[in-house]
Amino acid sequence: MNDISVGIIGTGKYAPERRLTNQQLESMVETNDEWIVSRTGIRERRIAAPEQATSDLAYEASVRALEAAGITADQLDLIIVATITPDMLFPSTACILQEKLGAKKAAAFDLSAACSGFIYSLASATAFMKMGMYRRVLVVGAETLSRITDYTDRNTCILFGDGAGAVVLGEVAEGRGFKSFELGADGAGGELLRLCGGGSRMPATEQSIADRRHFIEMNGRDVFKFAVRVMGSAADEALAKAGISKEDIDLLIPHQANIRIIQSAIERLNLPQEKCMINVDRYGNMSAASIPMALAEAVEEGRVKEGDTLVLVGFGGGLTWGASVLTW
Ligand code: UT7
Repeated sequence: MNDISVGIIGTGKYAPERRLTNQQLESMVETNDEWIVSRTGIRERRIAAPEQATSDLAYEASVRALEAAGITADQLDLIIVATITPDMLFPSTACILQEKLGAKKAAAFDLSAACSGFIYSLASATAFMKMGMYRRVLVVGAETLSRITDYTDRNTCILFGDGAGAVVLGEVAEGRGFKSFELGADGAGGELLRLCGGGSRMPATEQSIADRRHFIEMNGRDVFKFAVRVMGSAADEALAKAGISKEDIDLLIPHQANIRIIQSAIERLNLPQEKCMINVDRYGNMSAASIPMALAEAVEEGRVKEGDTLVLVGFGGGLTWGASVLTW
């Protein structure tokens, strides 16, 4: 085991230009701005251009993260892309990205853990690095959820958006970097949030298309209850493992699914509002891309200073959850 400290040495984000506002959704399904804002906190989301796939969004965020880290793509040893909207079933989006970036020496794979995917990927990358296998890893959360969203279903179509966030991991000074990870899964809750069509159990057929099985299916109320429970417990576990108390948190970066879920995490951790990064109002839920985009935005806004204690926490389909404590 290599006892190096692993941390984030560069961040980047990318949001497609096109905005889908609540007012526009009002003309697509029976909903209204007041309902969406009060129940979710979302005002608008970004939608990828028709020619953009997930790897294109990932590429833009990655270029920025590499620049911020001060390294070139050929110095990367590994690329992990967390996504549930890969460009295609295979090759992986990470391999497509590796080619686009010219990261010739990097191994590459995708990781599927829905909205928890970015935290799962950070934990995987850190384990590789602590093992001494790799020195510089690019971890990306990227999604084009608009491609799997049913814009006739008001229960889901108001929630999701497209975007990408990327970080470069490298060795950092002793005492800095990742202090703990807490990952979990409960496959028994898989049916609460899923997309069945197009997999090996339900290959695409005319019937599967007619039945709208190639879109996200969700039991919102049950996912909500699970989210509120697990956001608090995952963060508590990660803090306990790191030996850090709630009072020492400088910035919470939660998965941006719903402002009410975020509020419950803020309350559970007893944090003042300004110690929580919130951008769900402008981007909606971008699954694996939400946390790295919020992190990159916090860095851009100067909200993260050297020595700060950050807590990342998320939940999602699987069901899955994950949290991490790190010193910036
Ligand atoms: O990354 C993980 C992804 N998933 C999540 O994070 C989802 C977690 N769940 C949620 O965020 C919330 O459950 C929702 C925002 C999806 C829904 O909010 P809710 O407060 O749980 O509403 P509800 O599902 O209990 O629905 C309340 C009412 C229903 O009408 P009735 O049955 O009371 O007459 C719905 O039909 O609101 C209705 N409704 C809507 N009304 C206007 C549902 N969607 C809409 C809509 N506009 N878009």
